[in-house]
Amino acid sequence: MIADRERTAERLLNSSARNSYDPDVDIDWAADLLPDKYFLPAHRCSLYGTPLWDGLSEQQRIELTKHELASIASVGIWFEVILMELLVRHSYNADPLARHTQYALTEVADECRHSVMFARLIEKVGCPAYGPGRTAQRLGRIFGSIAFGPSMFAGILVAEEITDALQRESMADPSVQPLVRMVNRIHVIEEARHVRYAREEVLRDTPSLSRPGLAYHRAMLARTAFIVTRALIHPRVYRAVGLDPYEARRVAWANPHYRDTLRWAASKLTAFLTENNLIGGPSRRIWHAVSLV
Ligand SMILES: [Fe+2]
Ligand SMILES: [Fe+2]
Repeated sequence: MIADRERTAERLLNSSARNSYDPDVDIDWAADLLPDKYFLPAHRCSLYGTPLWDGLSEQQRIELTKHELASIASVGIWFEVILMELLVRHSYNADPLARHTQYALTEVADECRHSVMFARLIEKVGCPAYGPGRTAQRLGRIFGSIAFGPSMFAGILVAEEITDALQRESMADPSVQPLVRMVNRIHVIEEARHVRYAREEVLRDTPSLSRPGLAYHRAMLARTAFIVTRALIHPRVYRAVGLDPYEARRVAWANPHYRDTLRWAASKLTAFLTENNLIGGPSRRIWHAVSLV
């Protein structure tokens, strides 16, 4: 059953009014980081379980999770800025009195706070804002200005649901820095609404696609998933623990633990997209290439 668009938006607006955070006020940015806590659960590190990981000291492992967190957070900012652009365009000629439009604008406000929160997190842990790399940056600019319909909303879900799974686990893990857990908790609570909003749009729009339309959205979506997944960990993070960036990246991409992590993080989403026909046909190979299915 697909819920009524306006009723869903009304509920999401009420939830936003009751349960939203201001990272300036709700996070204690002055608190010290703890020397023995990880920044991601260790088993989610891209090198976990490889000989390169075995060769790192405990302090180097913590350091690597710190740089991977910073990389993921900076890619999060990149994607949120694209998302804000998409939602602003989605609202451009929509009825401002519709709850659906008002929720789109509310989501822009959420993402705006998130991007500042992630930026402050990167600054606090003392890492560079690695970003997604030049190619992804260029492609993201195109996606931001041409994406529409099911592959736009499903593309948003790729970024939101993969990070959501990782953050949900991390916020409950006592081996992770309290500051990071708090940032994750705020993000998870607010993203649950975004996921609901985007999923319902996918449910509403996908069934009416023509055959060429479906092929277009499947191909566009698979490429988005590929680019987002490959962008998450910038190769320069490995230099922070004295590893060769490109050699370490090669090891990470072939690492069965990391491939399992990606598949696990995407599993709810890929089930949803498969059920709704957006993963299938020739572009399924692209999902497979980045271990998402
Ligand atoms: Fe966000
Ligand atoms: Fe979001």
